[in-house]
Amino acid sequence: MILVTGASGQLGRAIVERLAGASQPVIAGTRRPADGSEQRHVDFDEPGSLDFTGFATVVMVSAGYEEDDVVIARHENVVAAAERDGVQHLIYTSVATDGDHLGFALAHRWTERRIQGSTLRWTILRNGLYAELFGSLLAPSAGVITAPFGSGGVAVVTRADLAEAAANVAAAPDRHINRVYDLVGSHAITAGQVAEGAGLLYRPASLGGHRAALEQSGLLPFQPAMLLSAYSSGAHGFLSRTSSDLGDLLGRTPTDPEPVAVRIVEQLIAA
Ligand SMILES: NC(=O)c1ccc[n+]([C@@H]2O[C@H](COP(=O)([O-])OP(=O)(O)OC[C@H]3O[C@@H](n4cnc5c(N)ncnc54)[C@H](OP(=O)(O)O)[C@@H]3O)[C@@H](O)[C@H]2O)c1
Repeated sequence: MILVTGASGQLGRAIVERLAGASQPVIAGTRRPADGSEQRHVDFDEPGSLDFTGFATVVMVSAGYEEDDVVIARHENVVAAAERDGVQHLIYTSVATDGDHLGFALAHRWTERRIQGSTLRWTILRNGLYAELFGSLLAPSAGVITAPFGSGGVAVVTRADLAEAAANVAAAPDRHINRVYDLVGSHAITAGQVAEGAGLLYRPASLGGHRAALEQSGLLPFQPAMLLSAYSSGAHGFLSRTSSDLGDLLGRTPTDPEPVAVRIVEQLIAA
């Protein structure tokens, strides 16, 4: 039996959908299970909800969007429960190797270490930046994209491809025991290319100017710094490393991420 956590989220839901034809039952774990569904209450903040008895494989979708201490405590709860309940294989969705300078990287690397030092078999999926997120960070206004991505290339990937890769690993975990995969794109794209694809101008902004705008936009206290770390990493070439791992796990060429990022920008313009 396979458990996928974070199953109401965009990645977790897509992993569950991709596992629909699996040879073993698949249970969707979420903080908000729908009535009468094949869903189970799984909240990393509530250790009492973490009963993994009977699950051979757990796909642990990272639960970010918080300060490091909160994320690390959540992830510790999951790994400890998996060890206690006899899970055989834990699959964790981490962050790309090239993403060490991202504000949320520390909690991912802590979690990788904890899993690698555990009693479990494991697979670490180091997910690249979503093409969808890259598009949403480009903030179009009046025909112009102003974002502090400079001219740096980012090896983004589509969320759907990452979900399919995770489902493929979960369906045959024995082929991926104690492996780390770097699931970034096979080529990097720039903010300028996405702007051109959407028929817009691109004027790179400064990090300082963008930080000031973010700090006045009602985000949670930790969020401006995390977003700035994504812009700065991209602008300065720290998200441009490419890899063939995603294509290897998919058994096909990954989806071209550029049209996906362009579509997000077009949706932002239309909204
Ligand atoms: N590679 C990237 O570009 C990128 C970008 C953003 C985020 N991420 C990371 O990838 C994860 C999945 O991305 P996504 O696109 O699916 O994000 P999303 O749609 O915003 O979903 C957020 C996810 O966090 C889960 N979560 C939050 N608090 C939780 C808790 N206390 N216990 C268990 N699960 C909790 C949610 O699970 P339920 O609501 O089902 O309980 C949901 O799966 C994120 O949580 C984040 O860590 C990666």
